[in-house]
Parts: sequence; structure tokens; C-alpha cells
Amino acid sequence: SQYDHLFKLLLIGDSGVGKSSILLRFTDDEFNERQLSTIGVDFKVKYMSLNNKRLKLAIWDTAGQERFRTLTSSYYRGAQGIILVYDCSLRSTFDNLKSWLEEVRKYSTNQDAVKMLVANKIDKASAHGVSRAEGEEFAMSHSMLFIETSAKTRKGIHQAFEEVVLKVLDT
Ligand code: GTP
Ligand code: MG
Repeated sequence: SQYDHLFKLLLIGDSGVGKSSILLRFTDDEFNERQLSTIGVDFKVKYMSLNNKRLKLAIWDTAGQERFRTLTSSYYRGAQGIILVYDCSLRSTFDNLKSWLEEVRKYSTNQDAVKMLVANKIDKASAHGVSRAEGEEFAMSHSMLFIETSAKTRKGIHQAFEEVVLKVLDT
């Protein structure tokens, strides 16, 4: 086959935090100032090599809007990596992290799923509406990896996926 491993990854978090932008930056190295809000679920494939392994990543990008919650929850099944995104310039998206983890507990079938917390939009002047320390502490207390990213400037985007995949390979 063309690859050694197929991994299923999932992007979740409030509407507008930048999930689709993170994915578009990772797969196509593009960014839209006017990215459209996701309707239901989107899907992209990305091939990468890591530790001499050829990997096929199937990445599911869910809609953050509440009205799609019933639909999107069915995509948690079997995900090996769950990437939970908040907007570090918008406190409400950080406050909602607990309810997103509740969704994960309810719908993820994989006990060993690797979880990563992503603080996106680090480029914004109002960044650190939520401090890095708060993000790190939340991640640590919920056994998650943590990274700061900007889909706009590329900062941390590749590294985010790489760290998740490295840990999936390791478990
Ligand atoms: P839903 O699909 O509704 O769940 O939202 P989403 O999480 O996919 O957010 P989306 O990627 O659509 O981004 C929302 C808005 O934030 C868009 O206008 C993006 O251009 C902008 N955005 C995303 N990432 C960044 C970033 O890192 N920095 C800045 N400044 N803007 C960003
Ligand atoms: Mg989206």
C-alpha cells in the first residue's frame, strides 16, 4: 500500500475559533480572511512522513455551530486524535472547553484517543484574552497536549498535527 498507517483525526471547538482555517493551512497552505462557517462536516486527506513512516491522515472538520451538534457527534467514533480548538482572543471559547470534553467523553469510542488543546489566533493583538498559562494548565489537568497556533501566520500549525500523530504512533 501507499502508506504504513491510516489515522483518523477530528477537529472540534466553538464556531469561529479557526478549525477550518487550521486545516486549510495544513493541507493546502492557504488562509481566507472570510472563511465560511462549516455546514455539518468537512473532510480532507493529508499524506506525511514521520519517523520513516508514511502516514495517511483522514481529518474530519466539524461545524462548531450548536445546530449541527447531533450530526457532528457521530464523527467522534474511532478518532485516534482529537484536536480541541479555542480562540485565545475570545474568552467564551475557552470557557466552553469543558462542555466540548463532555462531548468527547460521550461520543468518542476510543479510550486511548490522543487529545490536543490548540490556542488559535495567537497573531491577534487581543491574543491572551486567555493567557498561555491558563491554556497550559487546562491541557495539563485534562491530559492533553497543548500548542499555540495561528492559521494566519502558520505558527504552530504543522507542529500541532505532527505532535498529535507522534503520540498516536507511540500509543
Ligand atoms: P465553524 O466552521 O463555524 O465551526 O468555524 P471554524 O472554527 O471552522 O472557524 P473558521 O476557520 O471558519 O474561522 C473563523 C474566522 O476566523 C475566519 O474569518 C478566519 O479567517 C479567522 N481566523 C481563523 N484562524 C485565524 C487566525 O489564526 N488568526 C486570525 N487573525 N484569524 C483567524
Ligand atoms: Mg469550520
